[in-house]
Amino acid sequence: MRSLIDIVDFSVEEVYGLMETAQDIIANPARYADSCRGKKIATLFFEPSTRTRLSFEAAMLELGGSVIGFSEASSSSAAKGESVADTAKVISCYADIVAMRHPRDGAPFVAAQNASIPVINAGDGGHCHPTQTLADLFTIYREKGRLSDLTVGFCGDLKYGRTVHSLIAALSRYTGIRLVLISPNELKLPEHIKTEVIKKNGMEYVETTDLESVMPELDILYMTRVQGERFADKSEFLRLRDSYILTAEKLNNAKRDLAILHPLPRVNEISVKVDDDPRACYFKQVSNGKYMRMALILKLLNEAKKDPVRAPLIHADATSLIRSGIRCQNDRCISAVEQELEPLFIRTEPGKKICRCVYCETAAEIK
Ligand code: CP
Repeated sequence: MRSLIDIVDFSVEEVYGLMETAQDIIANPARYADSCRGKKIATLFFEPSTRTRLSFEAAMLELGGSVIGFSEASSSSAAKGESVADTAKVISCYADIVAMRHPRDGAPFVAAQNASIPVINAGDGGHCHPTQTLADLFTIYREKGRLSDLTVGFCGDLKYGRTVHSLIAALSRYTGIRLVLISPNELKLPEHIKTEVIKKNGMEYVETTDLESVMPELDILYMTRVQGERFADKSEFLRLRDSYILTAEKLNNAKRDLAILHPLPRVNEISVKVDDDPRACYFKQVSNGKYMRMALILKLLNEAKKDPVRAPLIHADATSLIRSGIRCQNDRCISAVEQELEPLFIRTEPGKKICRCVYCETAAEIK
């Protein structure tokens, strides 16, 4: 049995397989209308969502299945102190598959370790958002006909933007991808992603604060919202939230076949006037996301039927697992609030002190 916690849990070939299924669903929806008859998805959303929750629910309904779940933590027993692990064990008694969104980095990983059904990470804190990445990859593929040889600009909150982190990890597996990282200095991409994803995979990249100067180079422009909910200092958020506003004028020197993506929700970073530009793909991206989630539900349920045993979840290129008793220093990590979780770290390079928390990937120095 497989889960999807991080986009790299699936191989490049598996992602292509999902895109093929999604294309077939679009072409032949009636063929899939009863594929999940008798199956239930539980959508456990401990944090607000419009697209991800409703697209999972629409996806399951269009496959002939049913939906249970909640849309806020306050209406679940998490409000009474129930742990993520216990929630996962309980939901396994009611549903066939789970999609979980949680404000804590690593919470869906803990759910997958404890559930006896497949768990899908529907966004965990500032960490990652693999099903948004499936929507993003399918959109790029449909717009460009390829996932290689592209200059991709990421603009906005690259520090807390979990969709950015997941998409960069996904793109690192294709050839000829050049990254242009556009952000205020305060919201630059985390160093560990530059070191362990971009540089490690030999990707070309530049960092800049100036969107307009790089606009003519871009094949894809991935705009993002500044993630107010992740800031400890709200005055810092207010100062940075309007750092980039894409207007029709700023697109004057962009390529004619640029594809503009945004995971949404948009707040102020793309003028509504851009919506009529044929290069605006962010509402197509929403639609593509539902088809990729349908393909994902089918794949995970089929795999669970063939092999109901839980697959190992620690998938990084780990050379050793560390049980040192040291707790993760990321105060947004699920292990920071659920004290019964064993602190676990992975040493990614033999002989080096730097290790990563298995829940949230935050670095720690451990001898
Ligand atoms: N893109 C995305 O995750 O949107 P929601 O927060 O509305 O689910």
